[in-house]
Amino acid sequence: MSLMNGKNLFDVSGKVVLITGAGSGLGEGYALAFGEAGSTVICAGRNQSRLDNTVRQIRENGGAAKAYTVDVTDLDSIQAMVAAVAADHGRIDVLVNNAGYEHIQPFLEVTPQVYDDIMNVNMKGVFFVAQEVAKVMKEHGGGKIINIGSLGSFIGLAESSVYCSTKGGVIQLSKTMAIELGPFNIQVNCLAPGYFITPMTQPFYDDPQHRQWIESRIPLHQWGTTLDLAGPALFLASAASNYVTGETIKVDGGWLAS
Ligand SMILES: NC(=O)c1ccc[n+]([C@@H]2O[C@H](COP(=O)([O-])OP(=O)(O)OC[C@H]3O[C@@H](n4cnc5c(N)ncnc54)[C@H](OP(=O)(O)O)[C@@H]3O)[C@@H](O)[C@H]2O)c1
Repeated sequence: MSLMNGKNLFDVSGKVVLITGAGSGLGEGYALAFGEAGSTVICAGRNQSRLDNTVRQIRENGGAAKAYTVDVTDLDSIQAMVAAVAADHGRIDVLVNNAGYEHIQPFLEVTPQVYDDIMNVNMKGVFFVAQEVAKVMKEHGGGKIINIGSLGSFIGLAESSVYCSTKGGVIQLSKTMAIELGPFNIQVNCLAPGYFITPMTQPFYDDPQHRQWIESRIPLHQWGTTLDLAGPALFLASAASNYVTGETIKVDGGWLAS
């Protein structure tokens, strides 16, 4: 008896994969990974030239990609972007809900403006991008949503009170979405990265004390690379994870094991 009938359970070729924040950091990494895996990569974000750069790299590697501008804090902008992607590509198979924002500030100094700025991207933006994409997935018989958590989904991080609040919220949101969207064959899971060097975390890497604090807590003794997130992302996007939903995969070099 054959279990898989020769099928590659991890195959994501031909899938339409929408990635927010695809112009930099981890989003660019997911985009390159899906491009190399043969997906049609939809690179979404605010900065057109950075998105174009990601698209160019994917095409140079022989992949298919297109850039769409969106501000995830603006509901009209989200609706317009998702409608354009659905019209151009017919469906959306996978969402990597990656766009995020952080502003380090002591709790006692957080202003309402900074609170709103972080909440609007990391919580409200994640929520309404997922909602809009899920409507398209429901119409087309299913899909995979990958929301992005953090170490801050599980532990407190000093001077990151708003960020950690949003990242904790993303995990709870994902569980609720998994319950409600399961009947439509939409799996909703989270990736929770540890520390990866990107524009967001470069200041921590450049600060010797902060960097030492981080590195001393990682059992695998090094910062993650975008390649380290590619495998878990491809797994959550593929048929290999069809019975996994409402779950979070920590990709943190072992930090949270201790
Ligand atoms: N780096 C890490 O170690 C780490 C660890 C845990 C979790 N994460 C999470 O991983 C995700 C990516 O972070 P990163 O480290 O790659 O940081 P990054 O390089 O600063 O990327 C953030 C991305 O979000 C996009 N973005 C921000 N505001 C947006 C808005 N209003 N509308 C649309 N796009 C917006 C930006 O694109 P535009 O500038 O083009 O708008 C940018 O490409 C975030 O959710 C972050 O919280 C990162």
